[in-house]
Amino acid sequence: MFALDPEKAHDVTLSKLAFASKRPFLTSQINRFFGKHVPDLPVTCMGINFRHPVGLAAGLDKDARALPAFSAMGFSGVEMGTVTPKPQPGNPKPRMFRLLEDQALINRMGFNSGGVDEFLSNIKKTETSAVAGINVGKNAATPIEDAHFDYVSAMQRVYSHADYIAINISSPNTKSLRDLQNESFLDDLLLRIKTSQKKCEKVHKRYVPIALKVAPDLEPSEIEVIAELVISHQFDAVITTNTTVARPDSLQSKHAAQVGGLSGAPVKDLSTECIRQFYRLLKGRVQIIGVGGIKDADDAWEKMLAGADYVQVYSQFIYQGPSMIGDIVKGLNAKVQSHGFNDLSTALTALRKT
Ligand SMILES: Cc1cc2nc3c(=O)[nH]c(=O)nc-3n(C[C@H](O)[C@H](O)[C@H](O)COP(=O)(O)O)c2cc1C
Repeated sequence: MFALDPEKAHDVTLSKLAFASKRPFLTSQINRFFGKHVPDLPVTCMGINFRHPVGLAAGLDKDARALPAFSAMGFSGVEMGTVTPKPQPGNPKPRMFRLLEDQALINRMGFNSGGVDEFLSNIKKTETSAVAGINVGKNAATPIEDAHFDYVSAMQRVYSHADYIAINISSPNTKSLRDLQNESFLDDLLLRIKTSQKKCEKVHKRYVPIALKVAPDLEPSEIEVIAELVISHQFDAVITTNTTVARPDSLQSKHAAQVGGLSGAPVKDLSTECIRQFYRLLKGRVQIIGVGGIKDADDAWEKMLAGADYVQVYSQFIYQGPSMIGDIVKGLNAKVQSHGFNDLSTALTALRKT
């Protein structure tokens, strides 16, 4: 797969996983090789009980084509999307680059999406054990002043199919999207989303938690504003973080100067610092999903001690494959035991205080 162009490799793999997802025999084989070997390490986040704290981050399965396969690999949660209300092609190719020497990726996909209709026709066919997160975004053609229409309409459409919904205002590849993180837009956007969530809750008689996905490139003053707003609007979680537009001097790869969001090892510390700052302000009132550069149990543990209640992986999953899920969960379990605790949340509550 690594001999192929990165997006081609992604498409081929996803097609195979989509094929397997429609065939219970194949998903059971995936489960036999991978998922079955992932132990339980229960954790609750956003009021949802997860089998263990490791999920797949958004962007890999944008159109909800392979949820059963990812679930069978052993992820306790799969965040699908980002899905936009209408279909759109995304940015011109090439738009995904492997930075092998840096254990990183750069992408400027630009929300290539089959749109909500296609997404729903795919997801309706599936039933899995993994928690289904649905990450929504705005279409490129929608002016930023009207972005709330896209978020609210996408959210209303996917609501009944989601265990939680993620609001993505932090992709660097859709013009002005990150401006939505500014107070002038964000207060109004969060109010509209929360109002819509309340309406959906009444209609569907089910509360679906909402998380806000933020960038790792925020200034401390911006983090303070966002933290205040997610508390006052009673969001359920912050997903910390998306990819970075920064380019650390340490990057070795010839692709380092490509435009787009950098993910993987070079975003790890940036994202952990962001988690630490959010946790100091949120103090558990809004939970944190930690994502960015996680490659093993040490990285996941570091994010959890910094304040994350749940973690997600993407780039290192591309490099290591499904066996990393079990490795991380086993490693976390060993850390919990070695500190003399029986369960993860008790361990985290105690250790974060010290
Ligand atoms: C190719 C690619 C596509 C992505 N697409 C999305 C997306 O559509 N929506 C989103 O919220 N995040 C997207 N992300 C960001 C990831 O979900 C994650 O936040 C980020 O990559 C940091 O985690 P990692 O270092 O483990 O990759 C994408 C990342 C990559 C590498």
